[in-house]
Amino acid sequence: MWFASPIGRARIAGDSASMPQVASHRAVFLVGFMGAGKTSVGRSLGRRLGWSFEDLDDRIQVRAGRSIEEIFRDLGEAEFRRLENAALRELLSDVSVGPRVVALGGGAFAQPENAALLETAGVQVIFLDGSAEELFHRCELERRERPLLRDAKQFRELYEQRRSSYLKASCRIDTTSKDVDGIAAEVACRIGLK
Ligand code: S3P
Repeated sequence: MWFASPIGRARIAGDSASMPQVASHRAVFLVGFMGAGKTSVGRSLGRRLGWSFEDLDDRIQVRAGRSIEEIFRDLGEAEFRRLENAALRELLSDVSVGPRVVALGGGAFAQPENAALLETAGVQVIFLDGSAEELFHRCELERRERPLLRDAKQFRELYEQRRSSYLKASCRIDTTSKDVDGIAAEVACRIGLK
């Protein structure tokens, strides 16, 4: 089943640094809408490749000392986006980690400045794709609190607004009706690390 793999989140701390320095063969970034499976697939891919895994939302929470829900509720989305960009810069500047798989939150790659940072860094960006209906269903099953998840109509509208941004990734993988480990295997294959 889709969410058979546990969805845990690593906690990684660190101070800020300036410019992205990650070499392309040492980092894979997973992007896509809420429910695309970025965290679950990222964990599985990390295990498969023997690379570390990080979810950017975890770094944001550690830096802010608040949960994603609290950041949205207390500080608003604009401040969340600022924290997200700062966390991404910090992550890209940290060359001490070794090879890694990174899951970005659903809105991160839709922000042009974040997409530009990844392009400059020359990292692999993989878009995990799926229909709005399937992704909404997965989010409902997951029952995780998501500040930007309201109802099916609003979910589809946001999905449609962002889809063209996700399509700028270096590679697109259709996740429809596939399981987490199978998708991770497909990502590894597509980036030549089978
Ligand atoms: C967001 C998605 C969330 C999280 C935040 C904003 C978005 O991550 O970053 O709530 O803008 O779509 P997931 O895609 O892991 O749910």
